Amino acid sequence: METVKKLEQIKKEFEEEISSCRGEKELEDIRIRYLGRKGELTSVLRSLSGLSPEEKREVGKKANIFKNEFSSRIDSLKSELEEKEEEDTPGYDITLPGTAPSEGSVHPITRVMGRISDIFVSLGFRIADGPEVESEFYNFEALNIPLDHPSRDAFDTFYVEGEYLLRSHTSNVQIHIMQEEEPPLQVIMPGRVYRPDAVDATHSFMFHQVEGLMVGEDIRFSDLKGVLSLFCKSMFGKDIKMRLRPHFFPFTEPSAEVDISCIICGGKGCRVCSGNGWLEILGAGMVNPRVFEAVGYDPGKYTGFAFGMGVERIAMLLYGIDDIRLFYENDIRFLEQFR
Ligand code: PHE
Repeated sequence: METVKKLEQIKKEFEEEISSCRGEKELEDIRIRYLGRKGELTSVLRSLSGLSPEEKREVGKKANIFKNEFSSRIDSLKSELEEKEEEDTPGYDITLPGTAPSEGSVHPITRVMGRISDIFVSLGFRIADGPEVESEFYNFEALNIPLDHPSRDAFDTFYVEGEYLLRSHTSNVQIHIMQEEEPPLQVIMPGRVYRPDAVDATHSFMFHQVEGLMVGEDIRFSDLKGVLSLFCKSMFGKDIKMRLRPHFFPFTEPSAEVDISCIICGGKGCRVCSGNGWLEILGAGMVNPRVFEAVGYDPGKYTGFAFGMGVERIAMLLYGIDDIRLFYENDIRFLEQFR
């Protein structure tokens, strides 16, 4: 009866092992250990020859029952494990490389406006915002552009309703700021402006400007020159030269157009600067006393300067872009170059 006990012991061990078995590989090891050619049960069956016929029958019977039981336990656990593995496997190939989400980029106009703003902020200017739909008063009258003024033609723009229009420059924000605050003021005003220009490679009915305004007691033309020259050097490089050409704006007096030495040819003359070595980049001047009067400042007490620059033009020069329309077409092939 020794052998029967041994069989019971084998069964007990099998039960323990199978109930703690978690993987297919482990299960295969169990199968080999108990049912394989050199396995535990097989060796009991092999040793039957040395037993009495009675024992042989009993042990043989039990061993065969166990053998069937073991193999059906193993089979059912095997299909259970396979099913579980299928559930855990995603319906796609996890070893394939993933699809990376495409990375966005900052629009070149936003980027250049950011650079311009950073330079002025570092000089103590703050950034202000103003309305794009504006009344004639803020866009024209308060800026000393009366109804019958010839310079109003070039600026006349899209009327929305009655006396409201899409602003033709960011200078309207100067008026809002000065109406609301007392000097000293050091402000820049970036934003969109609108003009009834026919669209071509260098013109658009909508573009961007950055306006600047500094007002206080004893602000002089030399301050304007100093600030703009610092700006030009920070924006375009320390070797850049700047020159002021007398000009006319109704809201500044005296006024100037500001040129920089050509950033392409360094001033020798090339296609970009039309051969003359200079590039016009902004308009500027000392705030006209009539503008101070319009906002209720005492022109005898305060002086100041203002300037306005076109962002598209600066971006085109900096990046060598030859068609302004590229900024507005949302062509990914163009935009993704500004990373
Ligand atoms: N508003 C002017 C323009 O749009 C630019 C400018 C601003 C000139 C401030 C002088 C002072 O052309």
